[in-house]
Amino acid sequence: MKIAFVGKGGSGKTTLSSLFIRHLAACRAPLIAVDADINQHLGAALGLDEAETAALPAMGAQLPLIKDYLRGTNPRISSAETMIKTTPPGEGSRLLRVREDNPVYEACARTVRLDDDTEVRLMATGPFTESDLGVACYHSKVGAVELCLNHLVDGPGEYVVVDMTAGSDSFASGMFTRFDMTFLVAEPTRKGVSVYRQYKEYARDFGIALKVVGNKVQGADDLDFLRAEIGEDLLTTVGHSDWVRAMEKGRPPRFELLEETNREALRTLHRSADSSYDRRDWRRYTRQMVHFHLKNAESWGNAKADADLAAQVDPSFVLDERLLATPQPA
Ligand SMILES: Nc1ncnc2c1ncn2[C@@H]1O[C@H](COP(=O)(O)OP(=O)(O)O)[C@@H](O)[C@H]1O
Ligand SMILES: [Mg+2]
Repeated sequence: MKIAFVGKGGSGKTTLSSLFIRHLAACRAPLIAVDADINQHLGAALGLDEAETAALPAMGAQLPLIKDYLRGTNPRISSAETMIKTTPPGEGSRLLRVREDNPVYEACARTVRLDDDTEVRLMATGPFTESDLGVACYHSKVGAVELCLNHLVDGPGEYVVVDMTAGSDSFASGMFTRFDMTFLVAEPTRKGVSVYRQYKEYARDFGIALKVVGNKVQGADDLDFLRAEIGEDLLTTVGHSDWVRAMEKGRPPRFELLEETNREALRTLHRSADSSYDRRDWRRYTRQMVHFHLKNAESWGNAKADADLAAQVDPSFVLDERLLATPQPA
C-alpha cells in the first residue's frame, strides 16, 4: 500500500515518516521509502550522514531513463519526450513492484541499513538547485515520483512510504490522490489544524482516506485541543521524543528503545494503513490518474508535446494487483 505523510513544514512529516519506516522495517515488511520533498531530510532521519545524503541520486535527474523504462512497448506513447508526469500506464507499459530489481531502482534507489540488519530502499526526488529556479523544472522533479506511483503495483503487506513536500503543491497535480492512506501530521496549534481543514476539503472531493497524527503533543491540554478541533479524524498522537532528539544529534539509539507510547502510536498507524488497503478501489485509482492526466494535458502538456496527449490513455487498462503476477513486457 501507498502511504503519504503530509502537513505543515516543521510539523514532523519527516520524523514520523522515518519512524514509521523503521517500524515497518523492524516488522520485516517489504518496503520502499520515498523522499518527495525537495528539502531532502528523510535520508538523514534514516541515519545517513551528510555525504551519503548528498550522494543520493535525484529521481528528477533520471526522468529520461524512468520514462523510457516505464513506457515499455506501450503503443500509445510514441516517445519518452511525449510522456509527462501524469501519463498513465496502459497495455505494454512496464510497472514497478515493491519486491523486484529494475533499472529505475538501480538508477534512483539506494539501500539504507537500519538496526538488526534490516534495510530499506530509499528514493529521493532530488534537491532544489540554483538551476531549478524555473517553475517548470520544479514540477518535473516532483513529477518523477508521481510517474512512478502511477506505475507501481503493490500487493497487501507491501509498503511505499512517501514523505511529502509541505504546502499545497501536490493539489495541482494528482499526487495527493495516489495513496491508500494519507497521514496528516499536525501540531496542536491553530496553524496545524488549519492545514488539516484545507487538506480535508480536497480529500473529501476525491474520496481520499485521511487521518491526523498529532505530533509534539504534551499533556491533556494539547490532546483536548486536537480532539475538539479534529474529532474522529484524529487517529493517534506522538509526544516529544528523547529518542528523536538523540537521532537528530546523529546518535540514534536502537529503535526498540523508542518510547513505548510512541511505538504504540506507530502500531496504530500500521493497523490503519493495513485496513485502508482493504478498501482500495483499483478502478477508481486508475480513473483518477486518467482524470489528472487529461487535466494536465489540456492545461500545458499538449502544448509542450505538440500532440494530443489524451490519446495516451488506454481506456481498457486498470492498474491492478493481478498484474503483479504478469511478466514485464520485454
Ligand atoms: N515527536 C518529536 N519529538 C521530538 N522532536 C521532534 C518530534 N517531531 C519532530 N521533531 C523535531 O521537529 C523538527 C521538525 O521536524 P521534521 O520532521 O523535520 O518536520 P517536517 O518534515 O514536517 O518539516 C525536527 O528538528 C524534528 O527532530
Ligand atoms: Mg521534512
